[in-house]
Amino acid sequence: MAPGFFITFEGLDGSGKTTQMRRLQAWLTAEGRTVTSLRQPGGTALGDRIRGILLDSRSETALGGITPLAELALMFADRAQAIAEVIRPALERGDVVLCDRYTDSSEAYQGGGRELGAARVLALHRAICEDLQPDLTVLLLPDLATSLSRARSRNLRHVQHTGADENRFEREDDAFYQRIYDAYEAIAAREPGRVVSIRDDAGLAVVEMRVRAVVEARLAAVALP
Ligand code: TMP
Repeated sequence: MAPGFFITFEGLDGSGKTTQMRRLQAWLTAEGRTVTSLRQPGGTALGDRIRGILLDSRSETALGGITPLAELALMFADRAQAIAEVIRPALERGDVVLCDRYTDSSEAYQGGGRELGAARVLALHRAICEDLQPDLTVLLLPDLATSLSRARSRNLRHVQHTGADENRFEREDDAFYQRIYDAYEAIAAREPGRVVSIRDDAGLAVVEMRVRAVVEARLAAVALP
């Protein structure tokens, strides 16, 4: 077992996970911890290129778009590179690794949203990620309508300000997001030891304190170098 501690953040677009992860990183650093953080897709030079292909809604193909299986394969190609290049080396150094999305996102979005099924995603995880599991997953799951309206207005602002289009996933319909929500609930029910869900929308500062309390308790139970 690598000596570091691996924490992932999960949730729907607009759940607030990226903000919460940044706040946790600032706090951990102030506490004297060495933190490595990354996002998926992305986190490596190759991963950033894969992210561009996956999220650009102009990535049209002869079939009209990236097929669900090709999308799943690209997510895992990104993840394999990030594990080899960033995550494993950081864990071996003893860092706290914070990752904005990981395999649960593939299970929720491709397994649930795209209806490829959890079993297929988990089989890929075992084969490609050598079953590397987070020590802790913080799942932010405020109600679906709240997350969606936040994600859509944020995306609109982003496109208006930068002209950059990262909206492939935000264009999907509500049923797609309901399936993702349900898949996240199923993951949390299946793995209560790893996944801590924060469901209510208590405000940034309250959620921040809850995340911090969970992480503090888990880190106290392990001896990091
Ligand atoms: P982000 O905006 O939270 O960085 O995530 C980018 C999008 O990619 C988001 O809509 C979720 C999606 N995604 C998947 O569909 N499957 C995955 O495995 C990952 C990591 C992200």
